[in-house]
Amino acid sequence: MIMWAALGLLCLPLALGQSIPEPGPATPSSAAHGDLLFLLDSSASVSYYEFSRVKEFVGQLVQPLPLGPGSVQTSMVHVGSEPTVEFPFDRHHSGAAAQEAIQAAKQLMGDTNTGLALALAKKQLFTTEAGARSGVRKVLVWVTDGDSSDDVQAPMQVLKDLGVTVFIVSTGRGNFLDLSAAASQPPEKHLRFVDVDDLQIIIPELRGAILEAMRPQQLHATDVTSQSFRLVWPPLLSGDSGYYLLEVAPSANPGAKQSRQLFGNETSWVWDGLEPGTTYKVVLVPESNLQYLAPQTIQVTTLEEEVSPAQILISHWKPHSFHVSWGPSPVGVLRYQVLYGPLPAGGAQLLEVPATENSTTLDNLSPNTTYLVTVAAIYQSGREKALSAKACTQEVASKTGRLYFQSLGPSTVNASWDSAEGDVRGYRVRCRRQLGPPSLLSVSPQTHSVILTGLAAGTTNHVCVTPIYPSHPGPRRCQTVRMHPVTPAPEYRPT
Ligand SMILES: *[C@@H]1O[C@H](CO)[C@@H](O)[C@H](O)[C@H]1NC(C)=O
Ligand SMILES: *[C@@H]1O[C@H](CO)[C@@H](O)[C@H](O)[C@H]1NC(C)=O
Ligand SMILES: *[C@@H]1O[C@H](CO)[C@@H](O)[C@H](O)[C@H]1NC(C)=O
Ligand SMILES: *[C@@H]1O[C@H](CO)[C@@H](O)[C@H](O)[C@H]1NC(C)=O
Repeated sequence: MIMWAALGLLCLPLALGQSIPEPGPATPSSAAHGDLLFLLDSSASVSYYEFSRVKEFVGQLVQPLPLGPGSVQTSMVHVGSEPTVEFPFDRHHSGAAAQEAIQAAKQLMGDTNTGLALALAKKQLFTTEAGARSGVRKVLVWVTDGDSSDDVQAPMQVLKDLGVTVFIVSTGRGNFLDLSAAASQPPEKHLRFVDVDDLQIIIPELRGAILEAMRPQQLHATDVTSQSFRLVWPPLLSGDSGYYLLEVAPSANPGAKQSRQLFGNETSWVWDGLEPGTTYKVVLVPESNLQYLAPQTIQVTTLEEEVSPAQILISHWKPHSFHVSWGPSPVGVLRYQVLYGPLPAGGAQLLEVPATENSTTLDNLSPNTTYLVTVAAIYQSGREKALSAKACTQEVASKTGRLYFQSLGPSTVNASWDSAEGDVRGYRVRCRRQLGPPSLLSVSPQTHSVILTGLAAGTTNHVCVTPIYPSHPGPRRCQTVRMHPVTPAPEYRPT
């Protein structure tokens, strides 16, 4: 069954099962050449502890890299209310120096304006003032808790269009689909979900993928989908020394060749409108007026059309169950397999769902637990497409203990209660007065009493206390309080 074994081991919802290519022995990491930018969420949404774990992770990731002006250069930008550059590309010339600088970085706090930080990242990656080099591979590694106060997709697309390879490491409950769209394609190679305490696990593999992305490249294809691929090549020409001729033809039908002429300053081109599941022969001919440059030829096969699952929706969270649905429901699917297990790395269970259905309820789950849910569509062609999402079961919520009322005067009562169980984030106290306006008070989890005023003599009033849990309100406890009709003798009788 798809990649669950690897998942269980790594406890990552990488889900989609392709391995990350390690740089092979023929291409030592010293061949890597590129500008590597780290974008760290440094805002107040990240705890001090998480931020220090992330710094440790990035430091260890960078430490063995071949840093220097002739190979890899690295820079770090903080995401906060205002983004900040921790160090530019030309500052550190050894992995150890960069690691030390990362360790020394101070958390910014403030908002999570990732979009603003991406605009700054673009400036860093493409200006010589920041020590960036032109004509080298550019890689962005964004470490996020999944939260952003502003839009990420548009500025991220700008970077990808400029040829930047975007890796995302999510340590939080970020939206899988949004992050998949933000990362370079395919997401299973560029997006990692991992708990902040498990970051170490992904270091070797992520470092390998980064080095791979920065290897001086021949013509190659990235972002392969069922209808398109991006062709990327090293800068062989400059703007005024010639032009490129790019030719694409189905291998089975060379006569259907299409070609395009591109400026000598281009180093990538997205070719779309292609057929799914088809192998194409691609030829890049550099036409230089200074020297002969050999054409480069590769073959690229587009992905099979597998449109489902494209989204997973989780709903009806309860302590022991939640509902999973997915879409779309194309013909050609034989059945779905829903694989689910607690994170990190618990036993996974498999549920088969007929192709006629697009949802199921997972039950017998543990409360207050994060599950990784993978929905795989098994196609008639024998191929599979899978998508994963994280979901959390609710906590077991309790009512508060009983309510007590103590008279503090003719129309004032001290209402108190015994605390509710579990991860209570506060209490909400509602009072419906027989005479006079109702009131609603919210108090901290440490507070177990409120003073209720304006309760007219002789009236019957209704008080309810609701404990608030992180994701939902718990059950409320209600009681009536009757005020004594005779004013001078404050008395009350809870029922
Ligand atoms: C590439 O060169 C063309 C023509 O010389 C110019 O119009 C274009 O702006 C250049 N593009 C880049 C990215 O420099
Ligand atoms: C599942 O199917 C129902 C009915 O055909 C449809 O309304 C719903 O949108 C589908 N769910 C998803 C997630 O596509
Ligand atoms: C209200 O009652 C609670 C619980 O008995 C007590 O701790 C608190 O001090 C009382 N508040 C006032 C103002 O009397
Ligand atoms: C639920 O999990 C959170 C985080 O893991 C923990 O802080 C909280 O105490 C748990 N709540 C209960 C009721 O176990």
